[in-house]
Amino acid sequence: MNPICTVFLIYIAEKRNMIIDFRSDTVTKPGPAMLKAMINAKTGDDVFGEDPTINELEKMAAGMFGMESAVFCPSGTMTNQIAIKCHTRPGDEVICDESAHVYQYEGGGIAFNSSASVKLLYGDRGRIKAEQVKAAINPDDDHKPHSKLVCLENTSNRGGGSCYDLEEIKKIKQLCVQNNLSLHLDGARLWNALIAKKETPKQFGEVFDSISICLSKGLGCPVGSVLLGKKEFIKRARRIRKVFGGGMRQGGFIAAAGIYALENNIERLEQDHAHAKLIGEVIAKRSMVNSVLPVETNIIIFETANIPAQSIVDKLKEKQILCYATGPGRVRFVVHLDITPEMVDKTIQIIKNF
Ligand SMILES: Cc1ncc(COP(=O)(O)O)c(C=O)c1O
Repeated sequence: MNPICTVFLIYIAEKRNMIIDFRSDTVTKPGPAMLKAMINAKTGDDVFGEDPTINELEKMAAGMFGMESAVFCPSGTMTNQIAIKCHTRPGDEVICDESAHVYQYEGGGIAFNSSASVKLLYGDRGRIKAEQVKAAINPDDDHKPHSKLVCLENTSNRGGGSCYDLEEIKKIKQLCVQNNLSLHLDGARLWNALIAKKETPKQFGEVFDSISICLSKGLGCPVGSVLLGKKEFIKRARRIRKVFGGGMRQGGFIAAAGIYALENNIERLEQDHAHAKLIGEVIAKRSMVNSVLPVETNIIIFETANIPAQSIVDKLKEKQILCYATGPGRVRFVVHLDITPEMVDKTIQIIKNF
């Protein structure tokens, strides 16, 4: 049988099986059209700069953001860590929110890879304010680490998919310019923010010195992130990627998924956001729930009412709904490309009767 047909049949069978997986938007699998694009990709050795599909993806992403250059990497952790390495020298300080992925979930990479220290700020659901950044910038004093980089995350994962106000980002940028700091964006879910706030990639490209975007979350690719920045910055980033072991060879097969996703899977995020709002409203009415964080994009986080989060997760699993305990009293649902309207209806019925 034609391999695309086989994949299509497996895809349909999996959807019918109806395990509804809300643990993360990283669990998506490529559908038949994305797989077709991958199978048909033209490839070459990317370490020699000869993979035409990777070159096309990098050019396309840089063009969307109006930025000079881009480098394709296997993961969002790698793009963030490369950026931090490129922006800092050992002993410099990185300023970010306490919940930031770069600090909480990248294995201590800021210390491990860049020998940099971190100043944590306590923002509102992952979002820090310019006045906090201002107060966090160290004076020129030999006792203090050299403040060098601000990292923002949009949307914020632990903030429940919260979106930054672009005007606040611009104020932070102004401070960075005045104090000779760089500004990096962890845009793993920037696509969700752009759709929710009706903003454009170029508005972000104008403000940030570097942006990491993920293709493997809301956009549904199996692998891949892109780091964007100025030409010289990306030249150095490419070198660091090699040092980190991220130089890929015929990576065009996965870059083709990225191109497909950028062309086809951005606008549809609106549907994920609508589904997340619906589910959030139903969850908020249940007695087991203390409060639900405002649902701005595709993530729903709720605080349980004196019930261990894990027991809710376990009970839902018995009903074939998978979600995730992000703390002892916190549960997270993430809506994504592989969550169909039928699955949303079924989830709502189950939660109503829970
Ligand atoms: C906000 C954020 N940044 C970065 C990453 C890292 O991406 P990856 O899993 O591709 O390393 C994630 C992963 O979930 C994330 O949520």
